[in-house]
Order: sequence, then structure tokens, then C-alpha cells
Amino acid sequence: MHPEQHDWARSLDGLHDQVWKRLARGVADRRAPGRHPTLATVDAQGMPQARTVVLRAADREAATLRVYTDRTADKVEEVRNTPWAAIHIWDNVAHLQMRLSATVTILTGEPVLPVWSQLSDHARRCYGFQPGSGAPLADGLDYDRWPDPGAFAILQLQLEQIEALHLGHHHRRARFRRDDQWGGQWLVP
Ligand SMILES: Cc1cc2nc3c(=O)[nH]c(=O)nc-3n(C[C@H](O)[C@H](O)[C@H](O)COP(=O)(O)O)c2cc1C
Repeated sequence: MHPEQHDWARSLDGLHDQVWKRLARGVADRRAPGRHPTLATVDAQGMPQARTVVLRAADREAATLRVYTDRTADKVEEVRNTPWAAIHIWDNVAHLQMRLSATVTILTGEPVLPVWSQLSDHARRCYGFQPGSGAPLADGLDYDRWPDPGAFAILQLQLEQIEALHLGHHHRRARFRRDDQWGGQWLVP
């Protein structure tokens, strides 16, 4: 018998472990596929909006993820109105698609200052656009950057559901739910 390349995919626990390993690697390694998830939100018209972000933290115990953003970004307004988000990652190394559903909390002001104080000057330049993110411009570079802790926001994602699709020699799909204490359920791929 041919040993399976990704042994972990054979059990629900193994799959669930692997999702958190890949998320942790995304936080730690800028070249890992988990570094750049797609974050999807819903806008005021009910339209889905998807964009690339950097994964900044992944806490398995709490089942939370963190993304940093500018307070004026549309995504912040979107989750203020509709506090749900989806995260999508295709990890081509693990042959693993991860689809995560979350409720979102926006952190600004005092609670984010300890994080702000750890950011490099270069990183701070991503927060504090003048005019605000998404404003129309007469020319592509007609904007300023004033690194500003008041413009810095952390999106805290409380994961509610994780869906994993492993495309190995066999295809396996499973769903894990927080309200089921992260118990897993196999699904038809
Ligand atoms: C590789 C990459 C990484 C990005 N990381 C972030 C990020 O961590 N936070 C963020 O707000 N935008 C990030 N962006 C920009 C977003 O994709 C998006 O263009 C911007 O945040 C405006 O989105 P919004 O108007 O939907 O809020 C990144 C873009 C790329 C291409």
C-alpha cells in the first residue's frame, strides 16, 4: 500500500491540528501561504467584498485571529455594520483549503497602543492615510501618510467555524464548529 503523503488528513483531529499549524506558520513566516489570507466582509448593499490581508496573530486556545488595518478602511465600516467575516486560505504546500467563518470585533485607541508601540516605523506608515483610505484622488500619489496610532485598528476575529478541504491522493472535507467544542464532521467534498 502506498503511504499517504499527508497522514494528518486521515483523522478529524489531524486535520484540525493541521489548520492551526498552517495559521501559526502564516503568522511566523512571511513566505508561508497562511501569511496572506483573503478576508471577505459584507458591505452596506449586501455585496461580498474580498481583499488580501496579513495574518498577524492566531490563538488556537481562544480560536481568534488578528488583522491590522487603517481605521478609515471600508472593511472597518463594513464589519461595524455587519460583524461577520470569512477568511480563505489555499495552502498549496499542504494541499489544504481553509474556509473560516468569524464574528469580528474592532479594537482601536487605548487597547491597541501596546501593539502600536511594537511596530517599526515602516509598518506604521500603513496607518494614517490623508485623505482616508478609499478617497478618490486626482492623481495616483496625491495622498500623504501620517503614521497615527489613532488611525490604527485591529480586527479581532472570533472563529465560529472552520472548514478544511484536503486535496491529496484522496479528497477529504470536514467542518469544525465552535458551538460543538470544535468537534469535526466529515462532509462530501
Ligand atoms: C499582500 C497584501 C497584503 C495586504 N495586507 C493588508 C493588511 O494587513 N491590512 C489591510 O488593511 N490591508 C492590507 N492590504 C490591502 C488590502 O488588500 C486592501 O486593498 C485595502 O485594505 C483596502 O481594502 P478595503 O477598502 O476593502 O478596506 C494588503 C494587500 C496586499 C496585496
